[in-house]
Amino acid sequence: PIPVIIDCDTGVDDALALLFAVRHPGLDVRAVTCVAGNTDVDGVVRNTLTVLEQAGAGDIPVARGAERPLLEPLRTAQHVHGRDGMGDLGLPAPTRVPVDVDAVTLLRHEILASPRPVTLIPMAPLTNIALLLRTYPEVVRNIERIVFMGGAVAVGNATPVAEFNVWHDPEAAAVLLTAGVPITMYGLDVFQRVLVPAADVQRLRASSEPALRMAGELLAHRDPATSGDPTPTGGLGDAGAVCAVVDPEGITTEPLPVEVSLAPGPTRGQTVVDRRPVPGESEIHEGRREQPLVDVALEVDVERYVKLWLTVVEGP
Ligand code: BDR
Ligand code: CA
Repeated sequence: PIPVIIDCDTGVDDALALLFAVRHPGLDVRAVTCVAGNTDVDGVVRNTLTVLEQAGAGDIPVARGAERPLLEPLRTAQHVHGRDGMGDLGLPAPTRVPVDVDAVTLLRHEILASPRPVTLIPMAPLTNIALLLRTYPEVVRNIERIVFMGGAVAVGNATPVAEFNVWHDPEAAAVLLTAGVPITMYGLDVFQRVLVPAADVQRLRASSEPALRMAGELLAHRDPATSGDPTPTGGLGDAGAVCAVVDPEGITTEPLPVEVSLAPGPTRGQTVVDRRPVPGESEIHEGRREQPLVDVALEVDVERYVKLWLTVVEGP
């Protein structure tokens, strides 16, 4: 199996991602690290421990990470994820506590201890990852790839142009993008398209297995119908980034220069993706070759990822 570490802000769709990751036989989830984002970091730790227990994976080490971004204040998304950050479903409290080292220390340890290079899957503000890269730069030698949920080529969600995870801690995202390892950006352009049909959501909600009922309720919480959309479906969200690790052929990527806007004002937190053709002699293309190239997901096979996620979480 592929050794992976998930960095999350659980989070309704982070929960859907965790459930899939721990049930996929091709993934070895070596640790889960928590960061403030959708809710405060203690809420994220609690939600993450609960989800792993519900999923039958209560032995995976979980660490508490940064409680606020590098420069920005904490700006949670409780309007999207509920007061508890998990859809206010009244899930049980976890029976265990996080490990007694911080997220950066656990990340360093697990990356360097892995016999095979690790794939990192951040699906939250990138504060922990930036702190890791600046504190222990030697970890890059045992990182295979970073597949992160964040950014947008086209339209944002936190602002007209900025996606939440990058907008929440733009400086941290800028550190990630210059990490010097292969990076895949699973941004809003694909993230928002992977929707589970209503019949599947209803089947999960009616399941006799608590973890599947939880997944069904979480998907129902993400139903765009609650915001007036007539199509009753639930978005897989962050779980799509994990699908992209096990089934990279389900997305179409292009290696493109990506830069985070750090300037104050309306573009702050935007991922500026340069999709201009490679310059011809008569054209001016400032900066085109100076940015590191990121494999940016531009298309996704929606049915393929929905089927993959359902097959893995529901089992044979
Ligand atoms: C991202 O922000 C969070 O609300 C979601 O969990 C996802 O990681 C989407 O912008
Ligand atoms: Ca998230």
